[in-house]
Amino acid sequence: MSWADARVLASLVRGQPRTGTHAERLEAFYAPQAAHYDAFREGLLHGRTQLMEWMDPPAGAHVVELGGGTGRNLDLLGPRLQALGSFELVDLCPALLAQARNRARDLPKVRITEADATRYRPAQPVDLVYFSYALTMIPDWRAALDNALAMLKPGGTLGLVDFYVSEADPAPGLARHGALSRWFWPRWFGHDGVHPNPGHLPALRRLLPEHRLMEGLGSVPYLPGVRVPYYVFVGRRPASTA
Ligand SMILES: C[S@@+](CC[C@H](N)C(=O)[O-])C[C@H]1O[C@@H](n2cnc3c(N)ncnc32)[C@H](O)[C@@H]1O
Repeated sequence: MSWADARVLASLVRGQPRTGTHAERLEAFYAPQAAHYDAFREGLLHGRTQLMEWMDPPAGAHVVELGGGTGRNLDLLGPRLQALGSFELVDLCPALLAQARNRARDLPKVRITEADATRYRPAQPVDLVYFSYALTMIPDWRAALDNALAMLKPGGTLGLVDFYVSEADPAPGLARHGALSRWFWPRWFGHDGVHPNPGHLPALRRLLPEHRLMEGLGSVPYLPGVRVPYYVFVGRRPASTA
C-alpha cells in the first residue's frame, strides 16, 4: 500500500464528523486527503468514463457539474472539453476546489465556483448538468435534483453516476439487490457521509421518463471479491418537470 492510499484510508476510517454544518463536515473529511483523492477514487468511482461517453456534450454546449470535487471529470471529458461553450464546476468543499483550480488553471472555459448544489444557479439555463458520485453526499438530494432540472434548458440533459441500493421490490427490468446488500452499503458508506439510497433511481426514472440507464457492480480498493452497486443514468428534461 502506498503512503498516499494510507492517508486516504485513515480519513475513511475516521469518517465524516457528526457536528458542524454540511460544508464544515465536508472540509474536515476531505482536507487531509485532498491531494491523494483522485488516485484512490480511480479504483472506486466506477462508470465515470461511461457517463461522459453517454452524455457526449455537443460543441458549444454549456455544462455544469454539481459536486465536481477536484475536477477529475475534466480529464475524462477529453477533447470534448475544448469544444464546449463553457464548463462550470460547483462544489462546497474548499480543499477539493483548490485541487480543481489547479487542474483548470490553463483551461479558460472552466469556471470553478464554491456553492451549494441545492441552491446554485448559473446566469443562463444550460444544456447539460451532471452529478458524479455527488448526489449520495447531498443531504437534501431532492432539492439538488430539482435545482439541477430548474437550471436546464427544456430538452437539456441530466447525467448521474453514483452508488445506490435497489428497492426491496424494484420495477420490472431493474436489478434487485439482496437484503444483506441493501442493509450493508448504506451503513458502510454512511460513516463517510455517503448515502446510497433506494429512492434515487425511482425518482430519476419518474422525473425523466426519457432516459438511458446502466446498473453495475464495481470493485472496492483493498477488499478483494467485494462488489459495490452503482448506476449510470442520462435523461432528457421534459418541457415540464412538475
Ligand atoms: C465523492 S465526491 C465526487 C467528486 C467528483 N464529482 C468526482 O467524480 O470525483 C462528492 C463531492 O460532492 C461535494 N458535495 C457534497 N455536498 C455538496 C453540496 N451540497 N453542494 C455542492 N457540492 C457538494 C463534495 O464536496 C465532494 O466534492
